[in-house]
Amino acid sequence: MPQSKLLQPDYHQATKHSYLSVQIDPNYVDASTQPSAFKLYPKFYRRVKLNLNNPVHSFISLTSTVTLEKMYKESSQKLRVNPSAGALYPTEVYVQIRGIQGIVNGIYHLEVENNCLTLIYELIDDGLESYIIPGKSINGFIFLISCVYYRSSWKYKDRSLRYCWLDSGHHLGAIAASAYIHDQEIQFIFDFDKLALNADLGFENKEFISACAISGEVQEKKIRHLRLKVPFVCGTAYFEANEFIEDGYQKTSLLKSRQHKLVHPQFNFDKDKFFQTVWMRRSSRRFHKQSISQENYWRILQSVEQPIPTVNFEEIQIYSIVHEVRGMPPGLYKGKHLIKAGNFSEKTGYLCINQAIARDSAVTLFFVSDYINYQTAMQIAGFLGQRVYLVSNFWGIHCSGVGAFYDDETQEFLETNKDVLYAMAIGI
Ligand SMILES: Cc1cc2nc3c(=O)[nH]c(=O)nc-3n(C[C@H](O)[C@H](O)[C@H](O)COP(=O)(O)O)c2cc1C
Repeated sequence: MPQSKLLQPDYHQATKHSYLSVQIDPNYVDASTQPSAFKLYPKFYRRVKLNLNNPVHSFISLTSTVTLEKMYKESSQKLRVNPSAGALYPTEVYVQIRGIQGIVNGIYHLEVENNCLTLIYELIDDGLESYIIPGKSINGFIFLISCVYYRSSWKYKDRSLRYCWLDSGHHLGAIAASAYIHDQEIQFIFDFDKLALNADLGFENKEFISACAISGEVQEKKIRHLRLKVPFVCGTAYFEANEFIEDGYQKTSLLKSRQHKLVHPQFNFDKDKFFQTVWMRRSSRRFHKQSISQENYWRILQSVEQPIPTVNFEEIQIYSIVHEVRGMPPGLYKGKHLIKAGNFSEKTGYLCINQAIARDSAVTLFFVSDYINYQTAMQIAGFLGQRVYLVSNFWGIHCSGVGAFYDDETQEFLETNKDVLYAMAIGI
């Protein structure tokens, strides 16, 4: 049993899907009531239009930008570099910029819809460091991911606690990908004074900071807390509170994650092709039951196993249900070890709430963990999910995140007592 369950309410247990729960509440919503997926600060804030020919602007823009606009009869949907459960996009990005030529030292909101930075706070002797790495100053960038949770809870109710964190992890993955393309080193921090920062950034109970990514030169210097509070601006036009989510966020923000040594991953992708991959990444909406090569399958698994640059860490293990990998007997695997042989594609489709993508994939991966901090573990699962997307797409294999599955039945099928956090389907 994950150790956190002894210390605080079991948020995973409380948000499980079962055959019955999905029958009772299939999450139908009236699409016309969807909360806005874009946050806008008022017009009077100063803005910097992001110019993609400027490497700093391009680095920031590529963390979140819109890459495809799907047109429907009466509406359109803007899809982005980062995937999102139900395309509801609860995550926002803020970036503190210090010591970068031509840019005012300040905290900016990344206004994704208009591809610009909105200056929401000018720095003097204060800054985000005091909440995140006290006693230090970063010359460079501090990215914050936050979740405007109602965008997701509007549809997914309590289970959206999971999706907010998975989405946040994916967004960290998008930041890491942009950093890689722009030759910037990056480090993630999950354990810091999130609640004080939420209050000082004026988020009230409507938006919560989930993670931080730093990129730049670290100096020994005392920086003080923000001298002024940032005014509250709502990320959705209307809002309905969800106490379960607010409680789950606050309690897991107070708990430390496991710790390990900071190690950076070493990737060797052709950067132009990798940039194209980030730009073209999409979730597969259907697979054709075609096989993939073992070489590509192992490439994907190996890149997922590369280090994650953070000292706050929760271990994730991967189980694979192999349906169609050339030269591999179909069955359930843990790494290279075959646990049980058989063609489980129908079973996998069923476990993932009868989703054809999980049935027709070449492989469906399941991420399990015995975490201490659920919030961190879910974000690391999402981060790994983003790696699976990008590495698969890089090698011409399609992919989709799968957040919806029957929890207990899946856990039983995998023969694990660890919590099943997330699934990914890959194939052609
Ligand atoms: C956490 C998470 C869970 C998801 N779960 C599912 C799922 O259960 N079924 C599915 O078809 N797609 C799922 N998706 C894919 C989203 O529907 C997709 O990301 C979104 O529609 C945006 O499209 P794009 O990824 O092509 O940009 C999931 C994505 C994420 C990030």
